Amino acid sequence: MDDTGVYDVLLEIAKKRRTIRRFRPDPIPDEFITKIIDVARFAPSGFHTQPWEFVVINEKELRQKIVAVLTQYGPPIRNPNEEPSQSGRFDVAPVFIILFGDWRAKVGLPDAAQSSDARVDGLFRTSLANAFLSMQLAATSLGLASQWYSAASGERAQSGIKALTGIPEELRIFDMMVLGYAAEEPIGKDVRELSDMVHYNACGTEDFRTDEEVVAYARHTRAWCLAAH
Ligand SMILES: Cc1cc2nc3c(=O)[nH]c(=O)nc-3n(C[C@H](O)[C@H](O)[C@H](O)COP(=O)(O)O)c2cc1C
Repeated sequence: MDDTGVYDVLLEIAKKRRTIRRFRPDPIPDEFITKIIDVARFAPSGFHTQPWEFVVINEKELRQKIVAVLTQYGPPIRNPNEEPSQSGRFDVAPVFIILFGDWRAKVGLPDAAQSSDARVDGLFRTSLANAFLSMQLAATSLGLASQWYSAASGERAQSGIKALTGIPEELRIFDMMVLGYAAEEPIGKDVRELSDMVHYNACGTEDFRTDEEVVAYARHTRAWCLAAH
């Protein structure tokens, strides 16, 4: 494939990658899980620390216990206009991948960075987000659906999940990926135009959105996001 072809495939996967929140219970092949994590391990990380660990939850009983913890301490956001229903949601998906960050790896960061908790946190979260997105793109390329479940990293949800899985203290949940086959088509998505967000060289206030435009668009995306839940 020439470079234009590679770009086209990448753009197609980037557009096709969507958050899915309703899953079928059908199992997914084990080799897909390996392939997804294999892509993620090449993600860029601060000072190449690769501070990630991937814990795959594919045992139904353990998954149900994790669902119970999340129901109590980090329930999914609901579309306020939809009847509450649990069926076909994240809880029936066959696999969860919990992405952990290992804070012990901070000794690999430059001295000035590792002495600041905020800096370590920022560098590690950015690195882990790269790994997470890589997993989502890989899942999309394999015809799978995924959801980013961030409430899994809340303090109480984290303690509950760590107690269930026996994960050591030094590892912190970054986020959890729900993985499976889609039981829904994602709603249409509008993204901001390139001309609205790309700026070259010296810029002034007039080159960026006004306060009113930012607030109006943020309200629009918030409503869109809730409707997608
Ligand atoms: C940092 C981050 C946290 C997110 N947390 C959640 C979450 O907890 N639950 C969820 O359903 N989606 C979550 N999402 C998915 C976003 O809502 C979603 O990416 C966004 O609405 C755009 O939709 P799309 O992924 O279909 O393009 C999260 C995404 C990111 C990047």
